[in-house]
Amino acid sequence: MVKRKKLAFIGAGNVGATCAHLCLLHGLGDIALYDVIAGVAEGKALDMMESTPVLGIDAQVTGSTDIRVIEGADCCVVTAGSPRKPGMSRDDLLAINARVMTEVGQAIRLHAPHAFLIAVTNPLDAMVTQLKRVTGFARSQIVGQAGVLDSARYNTFLAQELGSSVRSVSALVIGGHGDDMVPLRSYSTAGGVPVERQVAPARLDAIEKRTRGGGAEVLNLMKASSYYAAGAAVYKMVEAFVLDRKETLACAAYLEGEYGINGIFAGVPVVLGGGGVERVLEIPLSAEEKAAFQRSAQHVRELVEAMDRVLNKAA
Ligand code: 2OP
Repeated sequence: MVKRKKLAFIGAGNVGATCAHLCLLHGLGDIALYDVIAGVAEGKALDMMESTPVLGIDAQVTGSTDIRVIEGADCCVVTAGSPRKPGMSRDDLLAINARVMTEVGQAIRLHAPHAFLIAVTNPLDAMVTQLKRVTGFARSQIVGQAGVLDSARYNTFLAQELGSSVRSVSALVIGGHGDDMVPLRSYSTAGGVPVERQVAPARLDAIEKRTRGGGAEVLNLMKASSYYAAGAAVYKMVEAFVLDRKETLACAAYLEGEYGINGIFAGVPVVLGGGGVERVLEIPLSAEEKAAFQRSAQHVRELVEAMDRVLNKAA
């Protein structure tokens, strides 16, 4: 008997609900929404459920303020916590969201101990660290979303520059999900041809700067954190897991010696499939790229240390 996967969304705000909706539309499984704000998860779940006859989709969508709605989930997407407001950096959310991650991690450990966990809450690299600690999940079982979104922004701007289909462009951004993320022009191509051969260095510099500030650009325009692109990025990761695609995607993975880094999460190419993070790829970097990646990793380390100070103070 084939059983549908159960996909749990812890946090049913804009990113969580957008991703859940994409998963529903693509028939990836039954959807369970959880949110602390009364009515949000229940209302969005009912609204999505009522769309299924129109779309011809057989799936259950449930929503609750009771965390037990995630019971037995195959995949948990964590977007819970406060989003960025204009003028805030992702790091400004550290204190408030670290405590939320502690609670959420405990609930996942209890109710969905076998789930594949995708962390999305900002500041991402610290939040996924806290979730890993609290759940005790192996590195194959937990990953952070950042690189798919950052690479999508890089792809968008490269395709616009080249007047080309986004499908022809393959763009890669590694490092932390902060202002010092590392767009890798040496690994980015259009039609298989390196972008460095098609776009002038000064234009690539400008495109990469815009990529690094991509989240803030949307935030400043709509005075709310982005969610269509972020929701799509998470969807791509859920899909790779549910359909066992073994797709190489840039994700925040727990590094165990790769790139000379141990014990922190950083955005690198990983193979995502039915086994979760099936492989962490270590790709050769130029001296300049290596230095930029190390700077970004150092920022992640400092962020985790700052989180620990906050959590220890509260303890
Ligand atoms: C972004 O980059 C929300 O961090 C997310 O838009």
